Amino acid sequence: MSTQASAVQTPTSFKPRIFSGIQPSGGLTLGNYLGALKRFVEKQDEGIETIYCMVDMHAITVWQDPEKLRHQTREGAAAFIAAGIDPKRSILFNQSQVSAHAELGWIFSCIARMGWMSRMTQWKDKTAGKNAEAASLGLFAYPALMAADILTYHATMVPVGEDQKQHLELTRDIAIKFNNDYGLDFFPVVEPLIEGAATRVMSLRDGTKKMSKSDPSDQSRINLTDDADTIATKIRKAKTDPLPLPDSVEALRDRPEARNLVNIYAALAEHSVEQVVRDFAGAQFGTFKPALADLAVAKLSPITTEMNRLMADPAEIDRILGDGADRAEAIARPILDRTKDIVGMIRSPKG
Ligand code: TYM
Repeated sequence: MSTQASAVQTPTSFKPRIFSGIQPSGGLTLGNYLGALKRFVEKQDEGIETIYCMVDMHAITVWQDPEKLRHQTREGAAAFIAAGIDPKRSILFNQSQVSAHAELGWIFSCIARMGWMSRMTQWKDKTAGKNAEAASLGLFAYPALMAADILTYHATMVPVGEDQKQHLELTRDIAIKFNNDYGLDFFPVVEPLIEGAATRVMSLRDGTKKMSKSDPSDQSRINLTDDADTIATKIRKAKTDPLPLPDSVEALRDRPEARNLVNIYAALAEHSVEQVVRDFAGAQFGTFKPALADLAVAKLSPITTEMNRLMADPAEIDRILGDGADRAEAIARPILDRTKDIVGMIRSPKG
């Protein structure tokens, strides 16, 4: 082992630190809010060190209009702040400002195996029925960059929605393989935090499909930029079945649309799904949907209003992102430097 590598400290336990990210590849949805943002705020308020990122480098794995990408990155940051992220207590920045992500991403592309990547269901879904040969190399390598996002901070916990579970398993595999290959306990094996009633919010048009910012139908999702009337109309028109709401959670199992609306209600109200089922047992959707619409408007409208206020001053958002990037860089750089030492790369003696 080289002199530099043997001087590397090998942490055996890691300080609790949270990292998570959201792609600015479209406007944020209720799914992003309930599965991610709302929980990011809870983690910050629990007093854990929290680092949150608009992952613009992930977004360009598929073509993005440059002006829209810039707008969506700022709008995403505004959504974080409007939802309760305090940029003084949490670090909030955009990925491309901290080059450690790209540098460690390359090292991890050399650790991860082609077979691991080709088994990623998101890769398979995104290329299904299309010409996979025409997909970008970045889209294929995407999970290695995601592992770098997390591990360049030695983050130990990652709050995400259900759809990111497999990517986090891959992050664990990359950390374990790196540690084994170099015989060091250097990268933490991260813990996915997939918790609550809304880890998988489904489309309002099809209860078997995830609510997504990239769904061609705007009716399928609630956007964090939707006004009160739009939210109420989308909920009123949401697909349901003809039965009244049941009196047990179990009875929702084969009713994906009903289950989805009940889960959304529970997550917004911060009630258990059991309690919501108890409160609305026997109710028709004609009663339940207006109650859900009122609740959604009450919870989301203040966020939308605050987002609009923040978006009126894009320079201030850029300042917040720049400040967050400086603080992120200060954590990431020494970890990246140590990684380079371990791998056997010579660094400038000037530091
Ligand atoms: P993205 O941008 O697709 O989604 C951001 C977060 O929102 C969650 N989410 C949902 N949760 C519940 N129901 C839904 N319908 C729903 N849709 C999205 C996602 O699970 C995610 O937590 N690869 C990531 C971004 C990423 C990242 C990271 C995440 C890049 N690097 C490092 C964590 C750590 C993604 O595409 O998320």
